[in-house]
Amino acid sequence: MFVLSFKTSKKEGRAECEREVALLAASTRAGVELTHRCGGHARCGTCLVTVESGAEHLSEPLAGEARVLKVLKAQPGQRLACQAWAKGDVSCSQS
Ligand code: FES
Repeated sequence: MFVLSFKTSKKEGRAECEREVALLAASTRAGVELTHRCGGHARCGTCLVTVESGAEHLSEPLAGEARVLKVLKAQPGQRLACQAWAKGDVSCSQS
């Protein structure tokens, strides 16, 4: 089992997970509403999160995510919650 922790300006929460899961899906389970306007299709970039710890437990960005991160001029450690899959403890925030 591993734990995914989420923080926004309004709420914090954590989800205990047993298998690999997208950060966005886990945030819903944690009761934290991350913005995600395109419904998780790597189009809008509104689900951008900053990974505070555990980046080594995330999947590598695929082409669609990499394209959006480039358009957004994302900083190192920022990922799309709908595209990043976790398989270990991760803590992230959305501003
Ligand atoms: S929800 Fe739109 S890119 Fe993730």
